[in-house]
Amino acid sequence: MSSYWPRFSREGLTNSVAPIDYLEWYIPRLQETRTHNLSFSGMQYDWQLDKLLGDSITELGKPHINDIIDPRAIIAERENVSVDNVLITHGATQGINIALLTAIAKIRDSVNGEIIVAVESPTYAPIPQTALILADKVIRMDKYPPDSKLGNWRFDRQQWQEAIAQSHIVMITPISNPSGWDLDVDDRDWIVDIAKQNDVIIIADEAYNDAYRQIDNYRSIHSYGENCLSINSLTKVYSMGPIRFGWIISDIETISLARRIFMTFSGVMASPTMKIGSAALQNLSVVDEAIAYYRRENLPLLRAVLEHHGIVWNEPPAGVFGCFELPNNLDSEYFVDHHCKANDLLAVPGSMFSDALKNWVRVAWSIEPRAFKLAVNALDESLSSALK
Ligand SMILES: Cc1ncc(COP(=O)(O)O)c(C=O)c1O
Repeated sequence: MSSYWPRFSREGLTNSVAPIDYLEWYIPRLQETRTHNLSFSGMQYDWQLDKLLGDSITELGKPHINDIIDPRAIIAERENVSVDNVLITHGATQGINIALLTAIAKIRDSVNGEIIVAVESPTYAPIPQTALILADKVIRMDKYPPDSKLGNWRFDRQQWQEAIAQSHIVMITPISNPSGWDLDVDDRDWIVDIAKQNDVIIIADEAYNDAYRQIDNYRSIHSYGENCLSINSLTKVYSMGPIRFGWIISDIETISLARRIFMTFSGVMASPTMKIGSAALQNLSVVDEAIAYYRRENLPLLRAVLEHHGIVWNEPPAGVFGCFELPNNLDSEYFVDHHCKANDLLAVPGSMFSDALKNWVRVAWSIEPRAFKLAVNALDESLSSALK
């Protein structure tokens, strides 16, 4: 049987580059276009580009260099930094590549021997697998659902401390995919302290952070100072994945190095990406409001269905997705491929993120309430047939 979770080692590969296995599972199922879809980790919002851009839609292919609005300035203002702290990239995934190349470039002259990267699990496969390509060794650090089953996912500090102490770079995802939960505040401060004590560079994939801005104690990793890199994009919270607009924020020295690396690998940003991204950045509140509306309308229906089946639901306080454990040790790939498929529903098995989550299912409430109601009914039917 195939396994789809992210790789943390090159073991068993005929060359050094691991496949992104979860896409082998996901793309064919997306192509089935099942009627009901709870599989999105990102908000589904129709930006209506003609309305967003107006007459300037015909200028999309023209160079962006002289555009009046520099999208870095909007991001810098939101993040309370200067434009020189911001590098725009083609999505968060390219941000992961450039951030890691930058971190490696910073330390290469001083490291004698292997470059080691500690990466949390469960995770988005390109994070450890970029490190497998660019660095020498990846150490896995596990995160678990809390003992009480409710609240932030946690980790064993001893395991993480040992991993970070052996590494040069640590890569985390503060708002985890698939749990949807933010790092516990003490854990976040602790990771930064341990990394700084050990002279380890921190790279945080903050692709889901913007949904948490209004939550108490929200803080982005770049704000902890030097050698802390934050990656974000318009993909997940702001529903702009197809235009590939992302960014990295860090101290000025780090960003100027990252900019050189970006230019070496990519030259300049695509003009349509910059122009659409700039327009979207000036209108983000419409999506923030839509998320609040979807949470208000959709979550009560999901809670009721899961409660009806006796399933513990650890609901994240923000964002558009979360995950739950199936009862009776049910395999989630089987659940999605048989019970959900029979009800024309797509959801995501936890095995796409970690071998430890084979009984977990990720569901999203990121779709418009009428469609969500039908999808959650299909989830109800799927659970009834799986649990009978
Ligand atoms: C943690 C994380 N980062 C980044 C991405 C992708 O972001 P982008 O489309 O901006 O590359 C995903 C998508 O699933 C993700 O889960």
